Amino acid sequence: MSRQPLRWGILGTGKIAEKFAAQLVQAPSAKLAAVGSRSPDQARAFAARHGCPEHGSYEAVLSQVGVDAVYLSLPNLLHHRWTLEALQAGKHVLCEKPLAVNVEQAEEMFAVARRSERMLVEAFMYRCHGAVREVIATVRPGGIGEVRVIRTNFTFNRAASRDDVRYRPELAGGSLMDVGCYCINFARAITAQEPAGMHAVAHLHELGVDDYAAGVLGFPSGAVCSFTCGMTVENDRTTFIGGSEGRIAIEDPWFCNGEFTVIRGDERDTITVPEALPPYALEAEMFARVVRGEEGPWITPEDSLGNIRVLEMLRRQVGLPY
Ligand SMILES: NC(=O)c1ccc[n+]([C@@H]2O[C@H](COP(=O)([O-])OP(=O)(O)OC[C@H]3O[C@@H](n4cnc5c(N)ncnc54)[C@H](OP(=O)(O)O)[C@@H]3O)[C@@H](O)[C@H]2O)c1
Repeated sequence: MSRQPLRWGILGTGKIAEKFAAQLVQAPSAKLAAVGSRSPDQARAFAARHGCPEHGSYEAVLSQVGVDAVYLSLPNLLHHRWTLEALQAGKHVLCEKPLAVNVEQAEEMFAVARRSERMLVEAFMYRCHGAVREVIATVRPGGIGEVRVIRTNFTFNRAASRDDVRYRPELAGGSLMDVGCYCINFARAITAQEPAGMHAVAHLHELGVDDYAAGVLGFPSGAVCSFTCGMTVENDRTTFIGGSEGRIAIEDPWFCNGEFTVIRGDERDTITVPEALPPYALEAEMFARVVRGEEGPWITPEDSLGNIRVLEMLRRQVGLPY
C-alpha cells in the first residue's frame, strides 16, 4: 500500500471540523486536500485558515480525484446520506458519531462500504487514546476480577439554542445522540458484550430534544451500567468501573489526559499513558493505517451497529423519533 499521505476532504465547516483540520497538520500520514461547505464564503474562510483548496458544495469535494478520504462532521441526520455519496464517489469515510440515526441506515452504510471496497469508521476519537485502550485491555481479561458495576457520564452545560444542531430534533440532536452514545460505547467496550436489558429516562427540552438523560444497561455477564448524559448540566465526564477484585477510575476518557487509577485492596496505581499527538491527529493516523491495511478499525462495524441498536432502543423508550 502507498506510503503517500492520505489526502483528506472535509465536509462542513463547523466546530469539530475546525478542530480536526487544525490538528491534521500534526499527523504525518495526512494532508488536508479540500474543504466543502454549503456556503462558498464559509468554505473560503475555512480554507484560508487551514491552507487548502475550497469548494462551495460537498459534491465538489467528492468529485476531486485528489481526495482519498472524507471527514464527515455534518449534523447527525446527514451522516447517512453523505457517507453513501462519499463511498460511492470512491472515498474512504471517517464519519462523526453517532454514525447514523438507526440500525437500518448504519447497515446500509456498511453494505455500501463493502461493495465500494472503501473503509468506513465511526469517529469515536476517545477510543484511539492509549490510556482508554489500556483501561479496556486491563478489565477484559479480569484485571479487576469480574466487572460488576460501571458508572459513566458525559455532561456539559451550554445555552440551549435552535442555532445549535444539538437542539434540532429534525437533525437528530439531543443528549443521548450527542454524548450518551459515548457512555454506551464505553460500557459495551469494557464488557465486550451487548446489553441484554436497558432503560432510559430523559428530560425533554422545549426545543424538542432530550437535553439530559440517564440510562441503565444490564449485560449477560451480570455487569450493570448506569450512565448520565446532558447538555444543560455542569460537566461530569467521570467513569468508574467496579470489579470483584478491584476498581478503576478515569477522570475523563472522552478528552483523555492519559491517566487512570487502578485500586486493588490497599494498592493504588496511577497509570499514565502519554500520547505524542493531539487526539484528532492520533485518530487521523489510525485511520491512515486502517486504509493501508496495517490494522483493523478501532471501531468495527459490529461495534457501531451494536451502539446504534442501543441508542435507537433508548431513544424509542423516551419517545424520541428514529
Ligand atoms: N468527535 C468529537 O469530538 C465530536 C465533537 C463535537 C461534535 N461531534 C460530531 O460532529 C458532528 C458535527 O458537530 P459540530 O459540533 O461540529 O456541529 P456544527 O458546528 O453545527 O457543524 C456542523 C456543520 O454541518 C454543516 N451543515 C450542513 N447542513 C446543516 C444544517 N442543516 N444545519 C446546520 N449545519 C449544517 C455546516 O457546515 P457548512 O455550512 O460549512 O456546510 C455546519 O457548520 C455531529 O455529528 C457531532 O455529533 C464530534
